[in-house]
Amino acid sequence: MKKEKIGFIGYGHMGGALLRSLLAAGAFPASRVVVSTRTAEKLKDLKRSYPGIEVAENNRAAAEKSALLFLCVGTSQVQPALAEIRDVLDEWTHLVSISGGVEMACVERLAGGPFTKIMPTLIAEAGEGVALVCHNAKVPPAQKTELERMLKSVGEVRVIAESQFEAGAELTSCFPGLLASICDQFARVGANRGGFTRAEAADLVLHTMRGTAELLKRNREDFQSLMRRVATPGGSTEAGINVLERDLPEVFDRVFAASLERHEARKQSTRKQFLAD
Ligand SMILES: NC(=O)c1ccc[n+]([C@@H]2O[C@H](COP(=O)([O-])OP(=O)(O)OC[C@H]3O[C@@H](n4cnc5c(N)ncnc54)[C@H](OP(=O)(O)O)[C@@H]3O)[C@@H](O)[C@H]2O)c1
Repeated sequence: MKKEKIGFIGYGHMGGALLRSLLAAGAFPASRVVVSTRTAEKLKDLKRSYPGIEVAENNRAAAEKSALLFLCVGTSQVQPALAEIRDVLDEWTHLVSISGGVEMACVERLAGGPFTKIMPTLIAEAGEGVALVCHNAKVPPAQKTELERMLKSVGEVRVIAESQFEAGAELTSCFPGLLASICDQFARVGANRGGFTRAEAADLVLHTMRGTAELLKRNREDFQSLMRRVATPGGSTEAGINVLERDLPEVFDRVFAASLERHEARKQSTRKQFLAD
């Protein structure tokens, strides 16, 4: 059977966001897509929006037809999913995993062909953000270019070393969640101090955050420069920045440490899973 489809196995938060964003951006036509996921019910809306998509009966049926295959299952499901499909992959099937917690060497034990590990981000849904990418030596240049072209249709792409994935993920794919948490905390304090409702304060923060990102982008300005422009010497912003600069480095260091520790634990447990195969 000629493999020419683009397959997606797993249609959860990230796999769903990635597939819908790529389709909306026109990265490839719906008629090229075959998708399978554990709870097929979740594909109903997708199929309604893109009737040309093929919903496969199971993972093997999706893998059998795919020249490019995205594995978007949860980290602990990568090994079982790969074990299920490995004998229908051929040496040219370009496998892509979105699971940072799965080491490339582990995947290569089960599937020895072209493999790319990517770290996408939910904000691809807004056509923004950076996807981190690391190809193995078997991915031919044309396939690298093709995958990167697709990802660039929904944001930026940075090719990095696998050893940079964890900290890189913190700066890109985890950061929308961290930023949401920071803004939430900031808005809560502002609401309490100013007599705003939580929703009013959140709205003020959201508009300001969006405008700040837009201004930085439009002016190609760096963070330090914007800080200097807003914080007039002796003014209230300067007083606030002084507190942040004193207290935040330690907090953020702990944020990275906690996250990297979790990454490491997950990596160890998936490594065990793959070695037991
Ligand atoms: N969320 C993010 O922002 C983000 C960003 C970058 C990378 N990632 C990585 O992406 C991976 C998936 O994360 P997620 O947040 O999308 O998780 P999720 O929402 O749980 O999605 C996983 C999807 O895979 C399906 N699935 C599980 N086992 C399967 C199997 N054996 N065969 C077919 N489908 C299967 C699940 O089906 P059910 O619907 O039945 O549960 C679910 O739809 C993780 O490794 C995560 O680290 C996530």
